[in-house]
Amino acid sequence: MSEAKGEKILVTGALGQIGTELVDSLRDKHGTSSVIASDIRSINEQNSTSKGPYVTLDVLDTDSIIKLCTDEDIGTVYHLAALLSATGEKNPELCRKVNVGGTISVFEAAKKCSLRVFSPSSIAVFGPDAPKHAPQVTDLNPTTVYGETKVSGESLAKEYGDNYGIDVRGIRYPGLISYKAPAGGGTTDYAVEIFSAAINHGYYECFVRPDTRLPMLYMDDAIKATLMLMDAQSDALGPSRAGYNIDCHSFTAKELADAISQEVDGFKCDFVPDVRQKYADSWPDSIDGSVAKKEWDWSPNYGLEAMVKAMLDGLSEEH
Ligand SMILES: NC(=O)c1ccc[n+]([C@@H]2O[C@H](COP(=O)([O-])OP(=O)(O)OC[C@H]3O[C@@H](n4cnc5c(N)ncnc54)[C@H](O)[C@@H]3O)[C@@H](O)[C@H]2O)c1
Repeated sequence: MSEAKGEKILVTGALGQIGTELVDSLRDKHGTSSVIASDIRSINEQNSTSKGPYVTLDVLDTDSIIKLCTDEDIGTVYHLAALLSATGEKNPELCRKVNVGGTISVFEAAKKCSLRVFSPSSIAVFGPDAPKHAPQVTDLNPTTVYGETKVSGESLAKEYGDNYGIDVRGIRYPGLISYKAPAGGGTTDYAVEIFSAAINHGYYECFVRPDTRLPMLYMDDAIKATLMLMDAQSDALGPSRAGYNIDCHSFTAKELADAISQEVDGFKCDFVPDVRQKYADSWPDSIDGSVAKKEWDWSPNYGLEAMVKAMLDGLSEEH
């Protein structure tokens, strides 16, 4: 694997659910001026990302990425720009264009500018034929366009690694639960929306069945995993480096609602499944993260109860 030349970091899709928190953590670690946030959207001053360097950047514009990386001496890109599952299934062409085309743009820039890349994958790579406790290695036959784009992302990462020595790393994130930025149009958004609905209205109408069980992770753990993977020695990472399953927590929508009811008096949740039920049903209930555990020692800090408390405390403080 080639060494990155530049010192600075570029984050694409930085105004999204993950980027909003990852940029803050990267700035705490590397210094504010070393981390350039970017997104196709323009920024407003309320966003914490506005406290440091920000550029408007479309990830489909390869030339602009290359120019920015050259001018700013970028060495590492955290490539978060994408369309998520629910939004992607509504607009499959745009989903393919942004998720696959954007990833190729970033990898081409990596080739030209000797960049290291973090390019996240998703549990959406698994299809209904995968074991319900999904192993690291199994056939990947997703039934969503979003899932297909994530399988392509992992294949492209392998290809650019094998053919051009680009160091691309990725995690198959499960549903991520956080309160600092809204969820970005994914199937696991119910596990985010339910918290503010509980605090503000004491009621939530959940769009999946109560028995829907999916792997989930609190955002603090997702950020920690991302930074740990990028800090790992390259030679410790095996063939799963572009899409690690990581240990997380699996619970049903009803178990989540019940855990919130323990903390929020009178909270009531109804379950009215919509089209997103189909996407959820095609994904695993839980995932086996033993390869990530072995290669870079990953384990999460937050279980269901701790995550529910952290979410409710965080949201109450924000109010
Ligand atoms: N949040 C989750 O639960 C989750 C789970 C699994 C995988 N992931 C993956 O993590 C990554 C980040 O997810 P997120 O939750 O922060 O998503 P998000 O939707 O919240 O943010 C994505 C950002 O990308 C930006 N964007 C869209 N098109 C763009 C373009 N052409 N150029 C530049 N920016 C563009 C959007 O404006 C948005 O701010 C994605 O690859 C996603 O597939 C997320």
